[in-house]
Amino acid sequence: MSIKILAIESSCDETSAAICIDGKILSNYIANQTVHEKYGGVVPELASRAHMQNIVPVVTLAIKQAASVIGSEFTIQSIDAIAFTQAPGLIGSLLVGTQFAKSLALALEKPLIAVHHMQAHVLANLISDHQPKFPFLCLTVSGGHTQIVLAKSPLDLAVIGETIDDAAGEAFDKTAKLLGLPYPGGPLIDKYARLGDPLKFKFAQPQVPALNFSFSGLKTSVLYFLQKQEAGFIEQNMNDLCASVQYTIISILLKKLKKAVDLTGVQDVCIAGGVSANSGLRDALKTMGDKYGWNVFVPSFEYCTDNAAMIAITAYYKYLANRFAPLSVSPTARAEW
Ligand code: KG4
Ligand code: ZN
Repeated sequence: MSIKILAIESSCDETSAAICIDGKILSNYIANQTVHEKYGGVVPELASRAHMQNIVPVVTLAIKQAASVIGSEFTIQSIDAIAFTQAPGLIGSLLVGTQFAKSLALALEKPLIAVHHMQAHVLANLISDHQPKFPFLCLTVSGGHTQIVLAKSPLDLAVIGETIDDAAGEAFDKTAKLLGLPYPGGPLIDKYARLGDPLKFKFAQPQVPALNFSFSGLKTSVLYFLQKQEAGFIEQNMNDLCASVQYTIISILLKKLKKAVDLTGVQDVCIAGGVSANSGLRDALKTMGDKYGWNVFVPSFEYCTDNAAMIAITAYYKYLANRFAPLSVSPTARAEW
């Protein structure tokens, strides 16, 4: 019998639904929320409201798309389990997805599967046919987290390094804000950096022990540097500033990833999370892989930023391991691994 899972992701500002059958993704719909742009960051109340507006259409589209792939006999009744992001994230956003999943599970009498958002980012690397072999290392870089994860099996994931302050995505977004760019600034820095000189400006790199990271100093270093410049400097040097900031962030990340490979001896290396969409990071990782003989894996763009396909693939492995959640389950904003 095949295992059909409906997965829902609503931890931050993307509402997403996906269907997977036996670990193959059939559909993955993502509704982005543009309402936050003018506020320079995600406004939690507006995010919850947008999730409520988006969730039914997004789930309906995911089911329709799956039916168009495998046949019209596939309906919401055909699903074997309903998965949702339980943690971590914005509590109001998580609540919308959790309550929706619980209501559906109750109405359809199907089991529930609770998924950890950061574990799902790592397992996004198992969606493609070109997959890493266990054990593998994953550099997970998102708006809220920066971690190096040692994955021994789909459900045995250990964080072996993480940020002690800001996440890599925050480093992108906060420096972008200093450059006058709108939220989220990461993709814009990526865009301008392609045209700039990464070695034009030097920003301090932190000395942090073990496999941990720190990014709060970079923001301060960029701020002090900009304060010393003449009016018009940012506009005249936007490409070089973006390239230099991006180069610094990538250097910090990849130095620690190299250290993790050296310490563990694991040579299958992946990236995950929103920042893994960064073209500079993707290219630099591939170059490093060629240089040191690593097997490098980079998820396709739609599985880097928040999406329900990664929730579905994680739920598939939880289903195989009989790890279901009770209807009394509730979301948590911060969650240990
Ligand atoms: O994983 P994600 O979609 O949401 C969280 O779970 O946080 O990551 C969002 C982060 C934001 O900080 C955004 O600026 C960053 O990913 N991001 C990028 C790029 N695309 C998204 N950062 C750098 N370059 C990109 N191309
Ligand atoms: Zn995420």
